Amino acid sequence: MAFLAPSILAADLSNLSQQIRLVEIAGADWIHCDIMDGHFVPNLSFGPLVVKAARKVTKLPLDVHLMIENPDKYLEDFVNAGANSITVHQEAVIHLDRTITRIKELGVKAGVAINPSTPVDFLKDIAEYVDLVLIMSVNPGFGGQRFIPNSLKKVKETVELRKKLKSKLLIEMDGGIDNKTIKAALDAGCDVFVAGSSIFKTENVSAAAVELKNIIKEKNDRK
Ligand code: DX5
Ligand code: ZN
Repeated sequence: MAFLAPSILAADLSNLSQQIRLVEIAGADWIHCDIMDGHFVPNLSFGPLVVKAARKVTKLPLDVHLMIENPDKYLEDFVNAGANSITVHQEAVIHLDRTITRIKELGVKAGVAINPSTPVDFLKDIAEYVDLVLIMSVNPGFGGQRFIPNSLKKVKETVELRKKLKSKLLIEMDGGIDNKTIKAALDAGCDVFVAGSSIFKTENVSAAAVELKNIIKEKNDRK
């Protein structure tokens, strides 16, 4: 099964509940929440308060992507805000095994993300403990960037790693996903697709989400 996770970083935040409703009706499976601190990435986005606001308006899993330094400090805040999964960056955490353990102790799914220049090999000793591997297909910090094709190779390597570990981890691709790149990512073996601007920066948010969801469904039906 493959899933669509619209990123609300690209949404009209002055109308968050309506934007979430639109993608929910269109068949979105998760809501991706991009948390940025202006240190780990050059941009500042939002924190637990917006996750809490999203929690109030949807039952969909909230997929919280922490692009922040020292994420350990904020895990409880995001769990209390309603996160269903918390993904930290391998590059931002010194004691990753301890952080992943802590996220799971808090009762939510644990994910680890790697930047475009970080090899999949850096995950080989943590992958068996995580529920999700997030492969960045853009340099983190902003929506609307160009897809980095090399990330497809990394998806395939992660598929191999999962097979070797006999793990059920999901592989998520994040950044520059649109109606073309999603097909390459599906073929590479991705399970979850984050899409921000290709959904929310369009004339018709619903239609854009339906289009991506149909591409995913077509592949699901072919499996
Ligand atoms: C980038 C974020 C992505 C981004 C996706 O740092 O992690 O989730 O918001 O936005 P698009 O789909 O516009 O590349
Ligand atoms: Zn993200």
